[in-house]
Amino acid sequence: MKMKWAVEIAGTGAYVPERVVTNEDFTKRLDTSDEWIVQRTGIRERRIVAPGEGTLALSVNASRQALAEAGLQPEEIDLIVIATATPEHPLPSTACELQAALGCGWIPSFDIAAACAGYVYAMVSAAQFLDCGMATKALILGAETLTSITDMEDRGTAILFGDAAGAAILQPTDDPNKGILAARLGADGARAKAVWVPGGGSAEPASIKTVNERLHYMKMKGRAIYKFAVNMMHSLVRDTAEDAGVSLDDLAYVIPHQSNLRIIESAVSRLGIPMDKVAINIDRYGNTSAASVALAFHEARETGRIKSGDLVMFVAFGAGLTWGSALLRI
Ligand SMILES: CC(C)(COP(=O)(O)OP(=O)(O)OC[C@H]1O[C@@H](n2cnc3c(N)ncnc32)[C@H](O)[C@@H]1OP(=O)(O)O)[C@@H](O)C(=O)NCCC(=O)NCCS
Repeated sequence: MKMKWAVEIAGTGAYVPERVVTNEDFTKRLDTSDEWIVQRTGIRERRIVAPGEGTLALSVNASRQALAEAGLQPEEIDLIVIATATPEHPLPSTACELQAALGCGWIPSFDIAAACAGYVYAMVSAAQFLDCGMATKALILGAETLTSITDMEDRGTAILFGDAAGAAILQPTDDPNKGILAARLGADGARAKAVWVPGGGSAEPASIKTVNERLHYMKMKGRAIYKFAVNMMHSLVRDTAEDAGVSLDDLAYVIPHQSNLRIIESAVSRLGIPMDKVAINIDRYGNTSAASVALAFHEARETGRIKSGDLVMFVAFGAGLTWGSALLRI
């Protein structure tokens, strides 16, 4: 959908846990190899939280960096939206806990559950709060402790995921060249069980049985997701650029969800976009779900890969199935 939300990025931040887990570490206890993991996914290592460290701690660190970069105090933030599938607690939202941890006021604070597409959902939601005047400084995050719902005995999923958080502060702008030019959000609930956690919700509350049957861990149909992801990424980028009336050549940078290097390579090669215009950090962090795009965005700003005036395409997809894109002139 074409729109013009006059928002800009005041600051970004990111945080990853200190502990690095390499592919070799997995080969010590699973029937897998560094070669298989690198060839099939592009992942070389990922970060995993320390005992006692969770989504809130990751979010606090990423948010403080974004606040410092923006030159803002916590009291100046008037909206918090966290995209996460792995909240600090089932209740309340991690956004509420973050509000208190940072020392913000009694501002609207909520989580968005859109899995790996969550950061784009958060960005689009916050932009609308800013556009209608209900907020002036929105702190958005993609923050995950994916390893808390990953079955470390299942080689099909264990090697894929990592923990991280990325934050950004959005604010209105008078600069006519900046803003979100187009965005698309969608979901296909009929494929809800393509990636899901069967236990621990209201359908099957936590019990000895759910623990014994490992129902608190993510179950995934990898092949089906793979095909969906390649097609969705391809059509979302193409259609969102078209909505905004820009050509794919005009894009300075594409920041895709980091689920699998082969998914990204295959979608962008069909679009004719060179890989040097595409953010890649899956080799270092694995799939960090909602955090992946947020983290890659911060890295791109920090390294000077993107600069003011650039057209940046965000694109993500995940459990739900969900998907989202946003075209931002920064
Ligand atoms: C998961 C994924 C990497 C698997 O790669 P793939 O090429 O599709 O591999 P397959 O699932 O077809 O499995 C091929 C073989 O490798 C095996 N295998 C799976 N994981 C393995 C591992 N870690 N090490 C070694 N072998 C493994 C399978 O058991 C299978 O063996 P078989 O042929 O004897 O049955 C890939 O499908 C993927 O990335 N899917 C998208 C996942 C995703 O993004 N999920 C999150 C939602 S955003």
